[in-house]
Amino acid sequence: MSVSAIYAGSFDPITNGHLDIIHRALNVFDVVHVSVIDNLEKQPLFTIEERIDLISNSIHSDRVIVEGFQGLLVDYAREKQIFNLIRGLRAVSDFEYEFQMSLTNRAQDSRIDTVFLMTDQSYSYLSSSIVRQLAKLKGNISEYVSEYVKTKLEEKFHG
Ligand code: COA
Repeated sequence: MSVSAIYAGSFDPITNGHLDIIHRALNVFDVVHVSVIDNLEKQPLFTIEERIDLISNSIHSDRVIVEGFQGLLVDYAREKQIFNLIRGLRAVSDFEYEFQMSLTNRAQDSRIDTVFLMTDQSYSYLSSSIVRQLAKLKGNISEYVSEYVKTKLEEKFHG
């Protein structure tokens, strides 16, 4: 029996920290759905189509499915019939928010479990907004994103 999990996020853009979590998740689950949220409260830099394209071109595995979703994560999980959620933990400071999200999701549907994976220490300070800011100001982002994402960020900010 194949066991699947959902790794949901805004991925604006996907970073090497996210990719590290996906690779770790593939060691635990047979199939990982990388699910990009389409109803962000924050105004994204990249459209949903662009964010999906950035992920698809940064990870090449037939065990990874990249797609968008709208609305509540639990509704999407029910639709997929996948009740394992993956979240990455970068530092202790992530824990409180993640704990709250995990329990809220479970309160919505008791079948939901969240599996937390620790990101590699070298990415513990990384976030998509830091990458966006660095790219905008022409900082060096080579260590933080794939070559493809780096090129697309440069195009977005500097034509
Ligand atoms: N490496 C690098 N960055 C990481 C990271 C890692 N391993 N893990 C998290 N981050 C960063 C992200 O890049 C992002 O950075 P930014 O704020 O600078 O853009 C930040 O941490 C937030 O992480 P993200 O993965 O985008 O998740 P989120 O906290 O925005 O949550 C959902 C996204 C989709 C999981 C959540 O909002 C959700 O479930 N929404 C659906 C609505 C719903 O069901 N609500 C009830 C949920 S309780």
